[in-house]
Amino acid sequence: MIYLDHSATTKPDPAVLQTFIQANERFYANPASLHQMGVEANTLLSRSREQIADIIKTSPLQIIFTSGGSESNNFAIKGLARANKHRGKKILVSAIEHASVLESAKALENEGFIVEYVNVDENGVILIDDLKKKLTKDTVVVSIMHVNNEMGAVQPVSEIAKIVHQNSRAFYHMDAVQSFGKIPVQFNGEDGPDAITVSGHKINCLKGTGFLALRKQVKIQPIIHGGGQEMGFRSGTVAVPQDVALAKAVRLATEKQPQKAAQYSKLRDELHEFFKQFPYVRVLSSSQGAPHIISCAVQGLKGEILVNAMQHEGIIISTSSACSSKDHTISHVVKAIQVEPSYEKGVIRMSLGEGISDEDIASFKTAFSKVMHQVKEF
Ligand SMILES: Cc1ncc(COP(=O)(O)O)c(C=O)c1O
Repeated sequence: MIYLDHSATTKPDPAVLQTFIQANERFYANPASLHQMGVEANTLLSRSREQIADIIKTSPLQIIFTSGGSESNNFAIKGLARANKHRGKKILVSAIEHASVLESAKALENEGFIVEYVNVDENGVILIDDLKKKLTKDTVVVSIMHVNNEMGAVQPVSEIAKIVHQNSRAFYHMDAVQSFGKIPVQFNGEDGPDAITVSGHKINCLKGTGFLALRKQVKIQPIIHGGGQEMGFRSGTVAVPQDVALAKAVRLATEKQPQKAAQYSKLRDELHEFFKQFPYVRVLSSSQGAPHIISCAVQGLKGEILVNAMQHEGIIISTSSACSSKDHTISHVVKAIQVEPSYEKGVIRMSLGEGISDEDIASFKTAFSKVMHQVKEF
């Protein structure tokens, strides 16, 4: 099987797994315990936090380990909004955020917050004028992702951060789940966001790992209360082996990023070119987008049919995103970029990752041509 669904999840790197197993064997004590074994586990945990902080150029105290992207997004949006509600009641999100951002914002409507949506163009890039118009003095949180998971659109995040910081007292949270390890992610500095979300299982780490990085001066309320672990931000016995493994995955992903981006960009452009021969295929991803996500729509077909037909040929792809693939409704991203009705059900996504080769892409092309021949040309 050729796996082209790395944006849904990735296979853990053997070196990361080894780190995880070793940490489990030797450092299984509770890092909050006072005995020697606890102290050692805590030392290892601190070192992992420092390693991640070093890589994203922040202080270790600003890294909060979580269970992944969804938790980090919930924490950022709910935590920032609740802790800073004296600043305002408005939450601004883009129309193409991940469900964990959209639903977190929506849940806050029950607490009196107001959610507004920043529109995007046909490439999925936010309309800066719409952001400027909707960013008012009473905005408390702006959450706009770095790379969209369904079509790979890259947002102008430095410009967004500058606009937010110069024109409001709002905090800018950036979901970096699909960008970390794929394109450079800037955290600190004048035009960096105030909070970023990273998920481990998208960077060849284990499922159930991730972190939220926060700027120093940012006030946030915990959403998981209890024993006060993670500097009081997230209670619960800390999963030291997972977090040690995450630090390793973060390092590996960062080291490999430039070379991987070059490899994936080349393959993405090759696929964009390939799709041009099919008059009933519309490419949705762009050459300005993330290197690893290719998305297209086939007129008059359902994405699920294509996913199954390609699977039959040994190629694993997905409909627009793993999260929307089971509910058979048209994804909010496809709606937001205004795909023509005859194409909107036929969206598929190919996402590249570790181990992908030129031969795999050649096999994809052969399989896709065969499937198109079966379903469209007869
Ligand atoms: C952009 C984006 N944000 C958040 C998430 C959720 O991350 P997790 O699966 O770690 O909860 C995903 C998962 O697909 C994603 O693509």
